[in-house]
Amino acid sequence: MRYNYSNMPATALPPLASAPVKDASGVTDPFGRRIEYLRVSLTDRCNLRCVYCMPETGVPYEDLDNVLSFEEIERVLRVLAAAGLRKVRLTGGEPLVRKNVPDLAARLVALPGIREVTITTNGILLPRDAQALRDAGVRRVNISADTLRPERFIEIARRPEYARAWEGVEAALRVGFSPIKLNCVVMRGVNDDEILDFARLTIDRPLSVRFLEYMPIGMVTPPQWKARYVSNEEVIETLQTAFPNLSALSDERASTSRNFRIPGAQGTVGVINPISHRFCDGCNRLRLTANGRLVPCLSDNYEYDLMTPLRTGCSDEEILAHVRAAVSHKPVQSDFEGRLYKGGSLRIMAQIGG
Ligand code: 5AD
Ligand code: SF4
Repeated sequence: MRYNYSNMPATALPPLASAPVKDASGVTDPFGRRIEYLRVSLTDRCNLRCVYCMPETGVPYEDLDNVLSFEEIERVLRVLAAAGLRKVRLTGGEPLVRKNVPDLAARLVALPGIREVTITTNGILLPRDAQALRDAGVRRVNISADTLRPERFIEIARRPEYARAWEGVEAALRVGFSPIKLNCVVMRGVNDDEILDFARLTIDRPLSVRFLEYMPIGMVTPPQWKARYVSNEEVIETLQTAFPNLSALSDERASTSRNFRIPGAQGTVGVINPISHRFCDGCNRLRLTANGRLVPCLSDNYEYDLMTPLRTGCSDEEILAHVRAAVSHKPVQSDFEGRLYKGGSLRIMAQIGG
């Protein structure tokens, strides 16, 4: 049975005159976790069709009228920054398929309170946009990279874009983003034989390669997910066998990854384990989808409609009240498997924004 976990349809609140919100009490969930990090999906569209993220054809794209404008996104961020939000990550789909993303980034960087604006991209449009993003004040990028083999890229991403994606990584290195994180979703029988090749990339390049556990999001059945899932323990074992002197790094900024360095390497390798080791205790994040829904947890189908209030004249105070209402539904712990067995996720990854 699919469970409908949403506040939709939202009843429009009566419009009030907007006043600047200065709310030092911040946004805190019922478990005392302070929300300081918003992941904003700029679009559910993408120039790839990664197998774990999107169907090959018939992608259910959102009508463009139902996608938040940059003005709406900036307004939400301004309100949240005044209430303690510190970090923004722009995601998708592929965020750079939207026009003028560097302009949006510059506006967000300039908001009082915002300390960091970052982006997660598949890299294809970085040769065009890397410099403008850097000039806008973006310092760090995450690039999805699941294979180092051109023929395999077509199998995983279903588009012949291997060369452009890797040109994107080169462009990121050239303009000096730091760190540059390469996110590799490890899948058994798909790319689990490339773990060491990815790790070796870090020897003479300042890249942070991160191996992600495959999460059961979107159209995947329990047997399909189980067949592909590779735990981070297994990845670490593979790395330690090949590099016995791999050193563990203590990095207090890395709330979601465990990081290591091959002795003498310029870059680092790390693992992100949403499934096997839950990192929910320190979770400070919230997601905003392209169609204006707040998603308190990636492992949960609950979503909260912010679009309707935004488009029916709500005040800044009301935006903050809606965000607090959404955050009150943040679960204490993720439960990807529980959801999978109850019918799975109602959205594909491209609609949530990683
Ligand atoms: N499991 C793990 N990672 C995923 N990503 C997308 N879908 C999944 C999934 N099912 C990754 C993308 C991107 C990041 C935002 O999330 O590869 O790097
Ligand atoms: Fe596009 Fe990223 Fe989804 Fe791949 S994982 S289809 S690059 S949004």
